[in-house]
Amino acid sequence: MERSEMTVDQKREALEKALDRTDMLMEDFLDVLRQDFGEKKRNHRDFSSAAQKIVPDEKPEEKPEDKPVGKDDERLHMSMSALSADASGCTRCCLCRTRKNVVFGTGCSDRPLVMVIGEGPGENEDIQGLPFVGKAGQYLDRWLAAITLSRDKNVYITNTVKCRPPQNRDPYPEEKEACFAFLKQQVALIRPSAILCLGKPASTLMTGQPEASMNALHGKFFFYDSIPMICTYHPAAVLRDPALKRPVWDDLKKLARYLGLETGGGKA
Ligand code: URA
Repeated sequence: MERSEMTVDQKREALEKALDRTDMLMEDFLDVLRQDFGEKKRNHRDFSSAAQKIVPDEKPEEKPEDKPVGKDDERLHMSMSALSADASGCTRCCLCRTRKNVVFGTGCSDRPLVMVIGEGPGENEDIQGLPFVGKAGQYLDRWLAAITLSRDKNVYITNTVKCRPPQNRDPYPEEKEACFAFLKQQVALIRPSAILCLGKPASTLMTGQPEASMNALHGKFFFYDSIPMICTYHPAAVLRDPALKRPVWDDLKKLARYLGLETGGGKA
């Protein structure tokens, strides 16, 4: 086992054994010398307190969950589970009245290669409480697989709004604004290597260009909170208009190149 993988108790035990072995060797060596002077063998020494001194107990870390929750600036100190719990009771906009579930996010939440930001939960997502589980989600999984990404391994997926807009309408600006506190904090906690925005609501929100078209935004690199970010069309839009496959594939290849990923020769 590597030293870095050992617990404090294991480190201390190993050290104690090493000191014991060294002591026995020293004793054997001294015995040879003592025979000449007729001295008595000394008692076995206890190294446990020396080992305790060299490998002290770890100080318990302060848990972010212990901090009070509720206000935006306090969210900066929250863990993902505390943030998700906070979102699950959110009543900041009227979407809370019609939602079945808050769809917070899914996938790898510890420094994934990519954080995908979609628009908002649809009917299936609202029922299951998970993002991108319907037809558009299955299509998204194929895009990700084409550049060796997967929500199980190296991708985190979320949306601009965590509650389903009725009849799958676009989220209103005030709804996106109300939910942005959660998204900002998700980015800050997750720290992905790159962000992929899908569709206009996510792309305009994250680039801070509310009037820009997808035609203008897609395929360019931006930075959000110092994290490289690229925008492309939403999978649902590509399912409706196959002419968008080519630009999406070009955008995905740019993202893959930036991350040093294989592109598998596929197509969106
Ligand atoms: N479309 C989105 O933008 N997000 C989802 O979670 C599902 C469909």
